[in-house]
Amino acid sequence: MKEQIEQLRETFLAEIQTVGNVQELESLRVKYLGRRGQLQGFFKQLGQVDPKERPGIGKLLNELKSLFETSIAERASQFRRTETREKIDLTLPGRKPPLARKHPLTQVLEEIKSIFLSLGFSIADGPEVETDYYNFEALNIPRWHPARDMQDTLYITEDVLLRTHTSPVQIRVMESQPPPVRIIAPGRVYRRDTPDASHSPFFHQVEGLCVDKGVSFADLKAVIAEFARRMFGEDIQVRFRPSFFPFTEPSLEYDFNCVFCRGKGCRVCKQTGWMEISGAGMVDPNVFTAVGYDPEVYSGYAFGMGVDRIAMLKFAIDDIRLFFENDLRFLSQF
Ligand code: PHE
Repeated sequence: MKEQIEQLRETFLAEIQTVGNVQELESLRVKYLGRRGQLQGFFKQLGQVDPKERPGIGKLLNELKSLFETSIAERASQFRRTETREKIDLTLPGRKPPLARKHPLTQVLEEIKSIFLSLGFSIADGPEVETDYYNFEALNIPRWHPARDMQDTLYITEDVLLRTHTSPVQIRVMESQPPPVRIIAPGRVYRRDTPDASHSPFFHQVEGLCVDKGVSFADLKAVIAEFARRMFGEDIQVRFRPSFFPFTEPSLEYDFNCVFCRGKGCRVCKQTGWMEISGAGMVDPNVFTAVGYDPEVYSGYAFGMGVDRIAMLKFAIDDIRLFFENDLRFLSQF
């Protein structure tokens, strides 16, 4: 009987090599492991075997059974692997990995920076958590001044607050170096505002400051007009309106032609043809005195610029909150 068992083992091993698909493997399984299969036949005969030899034979049969089982299982998993490989359609076009891109505000800020760099400005930086002195006092805005009401913010202490504009960087730069100065200072600013389509409690500004001997109002106008043309196109006009800021004298607010109708008047600009951009003016002599510059010798201009506003114009975005929601469906359009 031992030889017969050995024989069965060998035919099985030879036969499993020739199996070509799952169906053939299944008939092989029935043949060798089925209830009417050959192995089962040997188990049935075990009762007639000499009791002395029975344990040895029984052991052989059990080993053979597990050999059958593991070999069949292995073959089955080989078939499954090739099957999935065949399901891969090599004619399909490849999948593009999603590419990261820059946030629209970053893109616009980079463009603003490169325009001013080419006009001879360099880039300055200041803290978002400011002192009352830099944010207000040194900018000629004393505690009692009504201009503070328009720029309410989060106070960390009585004297420390989230900056309401980038103008404090003007002071920090002038304190740190003698004239001439020609800088822009981009950054985030904060105001106590309820969010809506055009307001966000934080937004972005670019401050500009130029101080030297003989700097005039004409220089300010030229730089802003040049910026408008490079940012939005040759045909874009700039309009200056008288205004008031405690740290500039005279002060103005400037508008660009509406970039949607190019000045003709449309729904977006409420038929005026103009879009408000920000404020500017000639640096107030009191500010020069606060930083130790001699207002009799030096003059200069300063301007603000809303980055979010410019990005909204550039990309025709009608709600400032979209910038800060991190919704990829929005962000991936730019
Ligand atoms: N800081 C002013 C604002 O936030 C803008 C401004 C900057 C005005 C520089 C004049 C000069 O509204």
